[in-house]
Amino acid sequence: MLYGRTTLSKFLIQQQRADKSAGDLSALLIDVAAAIKGISAMVSKGALGEHQGTLETQNVQGETQKKLDVVTNDIMLRQCEWGGLLAGMVSEELDQPFVIPGGYSRGPYLLCFDPLDGSSNIDVNVAVGTIFSVLKHAERKPPQTAAYLQPGDRQVAAGYAIYGPATMLVISVGRGTHGFTLDRETGNFVLTHPDLTIPADTGEFAINVSNERFWEPPITRYVGECKAGRSGIRERDFNMRWIASMVAEVHRILMRGGVFMYPRDTKDPSKPGRLRLLYEANPMAMLIEQAGGCASTGRGRICEVAPTDIHQRTPVVLGSRNEVERIERYHREYESGADRPFVSPLFNERSLYRSEVT
Ligand code: F6P
Ligand code: MN
Repeated sequence: MLYGRTTLSKFLIQQQRADKSAGDLSALLIDVAAAIKGISAMVSKGALGEHQGTLETQNVQGETQKKLDVVTNDIMLRQCEWGGLLAGMVSEELDQPFVIPGGYSRGPYLLCFDPLDGSSNIDVNVAVGTIFSVLKHAERKPPQTAAYLQPGDRQVAAGYAIYGPATMLVISVGRGTHGFTLDRETGNFVLTHPDLTIPADTGEFAINVSNERFWEPPITRYVGECKAGRSGIRERDFNMRWIASMVAEVHRILMRGGVFMYPRDTKDPSKPGRLRLLYEANPMAMLIEQAGGCASTGRGRICEVAPTDIHQRTPVVLGSRNEVERIERYHREYESGADRPFVSPLFNERSLYRSEVT
């Protein structure tokens, strides 16, 4: 049945009835959705498109850029700069915030985005996505960098697109998390997954286990217990997934539950995690929380972190509530020492016995 279905525009107009001030926000989300349709068309061409391959350049994170990283960044900027809705933008692919060009009027919102998340998967034809976060900019003056440094709790909207077998757009404007599927025949995003809800319990976890030797003890403890399965203290078998594309992992969790971890590790002491706070962790945290899940650094809610840099990284543990809360507890128990059995001082490294022998 093609007629009578709720399209993104209809959905946003209905949301506006609940919040009269949301008119400009709806218009902005329609612009973002238009950019996403453009990116979807481009990405789906695969090797037949003109933008396959890697560039010589690196982005501000020191990561080698794909041609598609640059082109999709451009699509987002061009589609969203002219509408008079934005005061500025921050992108994973841009060192500094993007200033709205002089010829266009400025609006009350800030847009932070990762134009092509998981782009290392492009060459192997695995799902990639676009992630975005919308903040308010109350002042009339053009935003300085500090204007973007707002905690995730101040987001007025967040979303991602996943370019998989179907292109989907998943958004929240603070009243639940809702999924739309792109109908390629009509060009409409159709509401197919209203009010997504993440089950509180799960038997599925996702983490890059090749980093195990760099993890902190609470993560090693949690994953070890999952791997021990039915014969371990969890008394159930767990399943593991790792797609290396955050949008695809979060999408799976929104569809059937699970826990995703990119925790703090010691691999590169200058990076307190892999994922970026403003345009990866915060928008995903809002979507997960609005669907009844939890999103944590391991030590507290992601959305309460006060940003200090537009490209800062953060540890991420998100998904089914009971598992995320368990992982937070393991961090607390580690920090208080409660997870270590009592060791007699006599057998301690610096004990009497030991110093006598040496
Ligand atoms: O943007 C970062 C990202 O590509 C995520 O989409 C993904 O979860 C992660 O990095 C993959 O990291 P790794 O290459 O360590 O598996
Ligand atoms: Mn990314």
